[in-house]
Amino acid sequence: MTSWTIRTKLTFWYTSIFGGTLFLFGLLTYLAFSYANNKHIDVGLEEEADGIVHYAQISKDSIEEYVMRISNEREEWASGKYVAILNRTGNLQFRSGNFAYGYLNLSSDQIKEILSGKTYFKTVKTSKWRLLRIITMPMIDSQQLIQIGIVVNKGSTHKIFLLSLTTLGCLAIIGSWVGGWFMAKKALSPIDCMIKELQKIETEYLETRLTIYPVKDEISELSGVINEMLARLENSFNHVRQFTSDSSHELRTPIAIMKAGIEVALSRERDIYNYQQVLANTLEDLGRLSKIVENLFILAKADAGRYEIHMARINLCPIITDIAEQLKLIAEPKNIFVSMEKMEDASIDGDELLIRMLLLNLVDNAVKYTPLNGTIKLSLGKDNGCAKIVIKDNGIGISPEDSPHIFDRFYRASKAGTANHTSSGLGLSICQWIVKSHRGTITVESELHKGSIFTVTLPTC
Ligand SMILES: Nc1ncnc2c1ncn2[C@@H]1O[C@H](COP(=O)(O)OP(=O)(O)OP(=O)(O)O)[C@@H](O)[C@H]1O
Ligand SMILES: [Mg+2]
Repeated sequence: MTSWTIRTKLTFWYTSIFGGTLFLFGLLTYLAFSYANNKHIDVGLEEEADGIVHYAQISKDSIEEYVMRISNEREEWASGKYVAILNRTGNLQFRSGNFAYGYLNLSSDQIKEILSGKTYFKTVKTSKWRLLRIITMPMIDSQQLIQIGIVVNKGSTHKIFLLSLTTLGCLAIIGSWVGGWFMAKKALSPIDCMIKELQKIETEYLETRLTIYPVKDEISELSGVINEMLARLENSFNHVRQFTSDSSHELRTPIAIMKAGIEVALSRERDIYNYQQVLANTLEDLGRLSKIVENLFILAKADAGRYEIHMARINLCPIITDIAEQLKLIAEPKNIFVSMEKMEDASIDGDELLIRMLLLNLVDNAVKYTPLNGTIKLSLGKDNGCAKIVIKDNGIGISPEDSPHIFDRFYRASKAGTANHTSSGLGLSICQWIVKSHRGTITVESELHKGSIFTVTLPTC
């Protein structure tokens, strides 16, 4: 199927509407012209018939003689015209012999109407191109009828008028097509420029923007919208690039460590204990690597909107109690005291697996960043239609400079010390995504060397 360009469509519609209007205008003008012309002929015929009737009455001649006389005297009067006299029953009594047409036969009803004083007009087609306009009216004594017929389209006025209208109409339509084409071209030229500019934009150069002209019209509005879209695209491309480069960087380190360890082990023959040591280290690194890959996978799926979240009504109280039990296990080696403070009943609409992942990440951080013999407190309450989970530790805390960035991907606070080599900086990014997908909030209050308080609020149901 051939598709028309917008320019062709605009030109077509413009010309069609203009042509249609012109046609209607021409038709009305022609009809008005024809009506005025016919009226003029009718008035002339009526005057002539009246004249003949009155003249015949006052002259001594009979009406037949009078008609014969004037038709013989004035040749041009007689051409294309006939005069006939009919009796009361409508039969022909006399007709001028100058014009080859019989006379108009009238029905008895028409004759009755005419005899009652009404003038009767009729147009008759005598050949393909010839029309006769005929008037029939009663004589003064109402004993006879006079009928005059005249060729109305003998003159070329109608044809000339019609031809002029048609020629002018055709010229106007051609002109409107050409004009419409140029107008459409002019109106669409900014779109042509936009297409050329957009064709130059490639994924590597997404910082390029469309030119916005100062005129406030639909095109400049469209350019603005496209520019906003380009900015969003650029942002998301940069985000993906950053994520890819950070991820590969994070994966490179443990792989390099594993490789170096194995190379050293293989460089010379060793006893079994040494080999076991290398394998144990490699397993530890592999564990870390698999955790990073798992976290990356979750974030990549979340970014693509492909992580399937299974929402259901869940009671937070048993989940937090369960998490606290797990926390006690991982806190034990560091002799960290775990306590559960307020525990209110609160149910939310959420994905239990994700909520567990969120809480595990937070308690894992609390243990990781709290020194030996520290304290971690958990609480669950209700606040303003939300469940409020608080995880408080008296660990190393977060500096005001690091605080705004801890939810960024791969961010690790510089003062986090020894924990750095075992962490990837993805845990809180995942927490933030989980909270967001549950329409909740996560905030942190922290003071360096004093501790941190992470507060999660989730809407209850
Ligand atoms: N309870 C906390 N006390 C002190 N600092 C914290 C605490 N929780 C998080 N942080 C700081 O925030 C940073 C980001 O935390 P996040 O959980 O995202 O990453 P991570 O714990 O370093 O690594 P991962 O969780 O991926 O193993 C941490 O590196 C740490 O500096
Ligand atoms: Mg963490």
